[in-house]
Amino acid sequence: MLHLILTMPSLLFLQGFLQVLLLLVCSSEAYKPVIIVHGLFDEPNNFKTLTKFIQQAHPDTEVTALDLFDNVKSLRPLWTQTKGFRSALESKLNQSRESAHLLCFSQGGVICRALLSVIPNHNIHTFIALSSPLAGQFGVTDYVKKVVPVPKKLVYKLCYLRLWQDISICEYWNDPHHRDLYLKKVDFLPLINGEIQHEHLDEWKKNFLQIKKMVLIGGPDDGVITPWQSSHFGFYNDNEEVVEMKNQEFYTSDAFGLKTLDSRGDISVCVQSGVPHLHWHINITVFNNCIKDWLI
Ligand SMILES: *[C@@H]1O[C@H](CO)[C@@H](O)[C@H](O)[C@H]1NC(C)=O
Ligand SMILES: *[C@@H]1O[C@H](CO)[C@@H](O)[C@H](O)[C@H]1NC(C)=O
Repeated sequence: MLHLILTMPSLLFLQGFLQVLLLLVCSSEAYKPVIIVHGLFDEPNNFKTLTKFIQQAHPDTEVTALDLFDNVKSLRPLWTQTKGFRSALESKLNQSRESAHLLCFSQGGVICRALLSVIPNHNIHTFIALSSPLAGQFGVTDYVKKVVPVPKKLVYKLCYLRLWQDISICEYWNDPHHRDLYLKKVDFLPLINGEIQHEHLDEWKKNFLQIKKMVLIGGPDDGVITPWQSSHFGFYNDNEEVVEMKNQEFYTSDAFGLKTLDSRGDISVCVQSGVPHLHWHINITVFNNCIKDWLI
């Protein structure tokens, strides 16, 4: 009895001590890992500056740029790339089981949209799309010229041929004057954006909606993504006037979860002027204004 009376207070003390310890451990929780998917004619080495920005702002953040389909291999078919990036991403995520952020540049953003749709229980917290042609591309910039050297009005004649659908650019080439062909012939973007009906739509939408936040970054001086508003799901109508995200059919019909995400308050759009395409990930102002605060 005496023994019990003596030990009760010390047990209470121990319990209190453990609670304080637990609080300390939890409040010093580490930053979530950041996984990067590169763009067209691009490779992980080009993300050293961004990695430095992240680690200066948030010391000890683990940053990984997935090293697949580098440079000219980034022209490979997008479903092939999605498969490759999927296993790289999953094996990364499977190592720790904690959630991570996915930061995707340019064409990488289109691949990430597919990854977040096809991977069940992906555990990605925040999806950041850095100047990505999320609603498609309709502009012959230097990039497109290298591959399809014809005027933009004619690109569809090549891109919408079966053979050319093995080239990544053609799989998000969205000619607003040939919408019927875009929907019929393009084997990637219309599927992931739910612009055509298919059996996976519900499942993909459910998977995509597991993200907690989507951050869309782009701007009018990009010079590559055309229209630049495609970086936040705006796109041309058949008069080549830009229709904003909220008036896009895939938004109003909530085809892949965009409207739900928006009504949850989980879409953040960051527009920055004065940033050419290849500067998005090396410009500290862009990092501070649009990226930093989400990587916690
Ligand atoms: C990761 O884990 C999931 C679920 O356990 C499993 O289905 C998947 O095959 C794993 N992927 C890799 C690349 O390890
Ligand atoms: C960096 O981005 C800011 C906008 O965020 C822009 O005003 C500035 O001109 C950019 N600087 C360079 C060197 O691109």
